[in-house]
Amino acid sequence: MAARKVLIGGGTGFVGRHLGELLTNNGYRVVNVSRMPGANNISWSTLESSGLPACTCAVVNCAGQMFMDFTRRWTPGFKQNVQNSRVYTTRALSKAINESQDKPKVFVLITGVGAYEPSETKKYDESSPTTGTDFFSKLLVYWEKAASVDPPVRLVIIRSGAVLGRTGGMIQNMFLPFYLGVGGRIGSGKQYLPWIHVHDLTRLIQFAIENENVTGILNGVAPQVITNEEFTKAFAKALSRPAFFPVPEAILNFLLHEERAMIMTKGQHVTPKRVLDYGFKYDYDNIDAACKEFAYLFPAKK
Ligand SMILES: NC(=O)c1ccc[n+]([C@@H]2O[C@H](COP(=O)([O-])OP(=O)(O)OC[C@H]3O[C@@H](n4cnc5c(N)ncnc54)[C@H](OP(=O)(O)O)[C@@H]3O)[C@@H](O)[C@H]2O)c1
Repeated sequence: MAARKVLIGGGTGFVGRHLGELLTNNGYRVVNVSRMPGANNISWSTLESSGLPACTCAVVNCAGQMFMDFTRRWTPGFKQNVQNSRVYTTRALSKAINESQDKPKVFVLITGVGAYEPSETKKYDESSPTTGTDFFSKLLVYWEKAASVDPPVRLVIIRSGAVLGRTGGMIQNMFLPFYLGVGGRIGSGKQYLPWIHVHDLTRLIQFAIENENVTGILNGVAPQVITNEEFTKAFAKALSRPAFFPVPEAILNFLLHEERAMIMTKGQHVTPKRVLDYGFKYDYDNIDAACKEFAYLFPAKK
């Protein structure tokens, strides 16, 4: 019997690589849609002209221009790229799904908790409205609208918190200062930090692929709600380092632009109510255990 195939937009990235490995270990064949050639890759133009590869049982979109790229200025052009790389890839995958004869069972889109307006007082679950007026809340509305697939294909949108793991995302950016003992909280440290270990995010994606009753929005966050200060203490403890050097909010606003820096300087209290209702079990449900897993200097190649 042919292996079940999963098509992953942006499967070459941090989340996509971990997902590809998990699915391959579980007997799936993985094909990436990528801007780069590669053994398991097809291009976005091939997707557009030839449609989904045969026997695709699930499609996942992890594509998007990394916005916390400190080498890139927050210009109108870059912001457009951040938005288009998410909206256009999601639209291209939706179109390929809707036009396919042999339909996949499910389309899983990974978006972010930026859907919820940052606040130190409001509490959000999946039923909360996306009312924000900032760049990221607005982007999330366009991005999620682009995921329009006709029934019977299930649509699952996972609004992910900061994805924690040694080889990408926020940890890769802050590992060295923390390892050298010059890490610290960001701003007051009181802002919430919705988070999920990359291992649990990819397990949640597989859970969404395999459970036919799972549909709609899921908050891809750990059930333990923490602040930036609590994360800072847990990460420093896991590395056995002090973390006495707070990063002032004004410096981040100056270096990154306030609109982008808010991803770090502001946060949201987000819980995964529907994920828990579906019975998903987290392997990393507390930040101390999560930080211990990636507190090592040399990452294995992944
Ligand atoms: N990491 C996090 O903490 C986090 C948190 C919340 C949400 N998310 C979302 O989850 C998704 C995956 O995150 P990640 O950390 O795996 O990101 P990543 O490591 O930056 O990988 C994203 C992938 O998207 C593709 N890509 C980048 N720019 C593109 C462009 N202009 N047009 C088309 N494709 C482009 C790249 O694939 P190719 O180079 O092969 O084309 C890249 O491998 C993103 O949409 C991100 O916004 C991530």
